[in-house]
Amino acid sequence: MLDLTRKVVLITGLGQTTDQGWGIGAAIATKLAEQGALIFGGNRSLESAKRTKSRIEAAGGICDVRETDVTNSTSVKELVDACMQRHGRIDILVNNVGKSEPGCPAAMAEDTWNAQMDLNLKSIYLTCHHVLPIMENQATGGSIVNVSSIAGLRYIGKPQVAYSTTKAAMMQFTKVTAVMYAAKGVRLNTVVPGLIYTPYTRELAKRYAPGGDEEEYMRMRDGQVPMGRMGDGWDVANAVVFLASDEAKYITGQELVVDGGITSSTGRT
Ligand SMILES: NC(=O)c1ccc[n+]([C@@H]2O[C@H](COP(=O)([O-])OP(=O)(O)OC[C@H]3O[C@@H](n4cnc5c(N)ncnc54)[C@H](OP(=O)(O)O)[C@@H]3O)[C@@H](O)[C@H]2O)c1
Repeated sequence: MLDLTRKVVLITGLGQTTDQGWGIGAAIATKLAEQGALIFGGNRSLESAKRTKSRIEAAGGICDVRETDVTNSTSVKELVDACMQRHGRIDILVNNVGKSEPGCPAAMAEDTWNAQMDLNLKSIYLTCHHVLPIMENQATGGSIVNVSSIAGLRYIGKPQVAYSTTKAAMMQFTKVTAVMYAAKGVRLNTVVPGLIYTPYTRELAKRYAPGGDEEEYMRMRDGQVPMGRMGDGWDVANAVVFLASDEAKYITGQELVVDGGITSSTGRT
């Protein structure tokens, strides 16, 4: 089950700024490697990508990393070319990079809006632009998994209009492209995480905790979830592994929500 032996994975944003805890991208790369996949990752900071590489290799996996800016077409093409040079194929593409900037339309600066569009949305177009022709020409096709957010489905308690917009648009990009490539052997799906505990969540707590009380901020996030707790990177990674695997071979254009029940609730449990 979920055997990915020698499947070549191209993943963006697998970096880890600390050895404490797991970011979503690092957990996805590690879980795919545990299933036997060969990981090729692009990340803004090479240093944080190398931290993930070391963790994967310490567990016996295979991982190459490269400094990449997913908002830059040349940089993305170089990443794809380097992966092809190393492995000669790309079986799985995981678009994980994403970040939220706060603000409503009136408050958000135009530069911030544009940067959010580039990082969260254009990046997916760019990787797909370069990878789809490769997958289409492979006898075994390929599988693409994009990482969205429940902020693309609902208002989740804080103004982040550009982030929410890009995360919703990403789901539609995935759906329509899935239809265009269904007969070409390439599947595209989206994993939609809810509130996930990562090292970055700690940064958010530093920024947003009312009165600077970080533990209260964590309790508040846990309390929003019908299951009573945030998820973690592994919860997201397990969903990505499933959608990337042959067990999901008849699933395309879908969203798999990993949220402990939030989006099924009206807020009263
Ligand atoms: N955390 C949550 O609660 C949550 C909830 C729902 C959805 N998500 C989504 O899940 C995904 C992962 O989020 P995360 O918070 O866990 O982050 P993460 O996977 O820990 O890290 C994001 C990675 O993206 C890299 N990156 C940033 N800008 C880049 C660029 N221009 N080019 C290449 N790489 C770049 C960062 O590199 P550096 O190492 O250089 O910083 C970092 O390694 C995102 O799409 C996010 O929207 C997260």
